[in-house]
Amino acid sequence: MPAQPLSIRLCNWDEARLEARRIRELVFVREQRVPLELEWDEQDPHCDHALAHAADGAAVGTGRLLPDGHIGRMAVLQEWRGKGVGALLLQALMEQARLRGHARVRLNAQAHAAGFYRRYGFEASGPEFMDAGIPHVAMQRDLKRD
Ligand SMILES: CC(C)(COP(=O)(O)OP(=O)(O)OC[C@H]1O[C@@H](n2cnc3c(N)ncnc32)[C@H](O)[C@@H]1OP(=O)(O)O)[C@@H](O)C(=O)NCCC(=O)NCCS
Repeated sequence: MPAQPLSIRLCNWDEARLEARRIRELVFVREQRVPLELEWDEQDPHCDHALAHAADGAAVGTGRLLPDGHIGRMAVLQEWRGKGVGALLLQALMEQARLRGHARVRLNAQAHAAGFYRRYGFEASGPEFMDAGIPHVAMQRDLKRD
């Protein structure tokens, strides 16, 4: 359980855009040095987006579910990591995938985060590969288990 109260909101891109962009730019572009042009793609308007808000209303984390059942762009602000935000986002996106009728969810995990996803039942489904200069591993999780 998170030590501080957090709320998770599922929304469309129009509603998520401002806050999701701010978080993703801080985490992926500024912190991880992902080129800006690789961070933005044409998928966002077609995704369900999850936003985590702290008690004061500030958005502190985000993630998205693509129409094909892939989860992606999971990002928690540096100072908010290790407080359960990522877990709540991931669970909300898995629940949304279930509601959308997906039998499983997939994602391309940054290799350093594979242990995080393993905690929530994801299994690697292939060898490591490079994307945006960062090692990744494809992972998936069956949704019928619980
Ligand atoms: C990966 C990320 C989303 C995790 O979010 P978080 O809010 O720090 O994670 P949580 O606090 O919810 O962690 C939940 C559990 O996973 C564990 N965990 C978190 N990050 C982990 C990691 N990199 N490897 C292994 N376990 C991890 C936590 O210890 C915690 O375990 P516990 O329940 O036993 O205490 C976050 O670190 C992040 O935004 N990183 C930078 C961007 C990034 O790399 N995104 C992933 C792209 S695939």
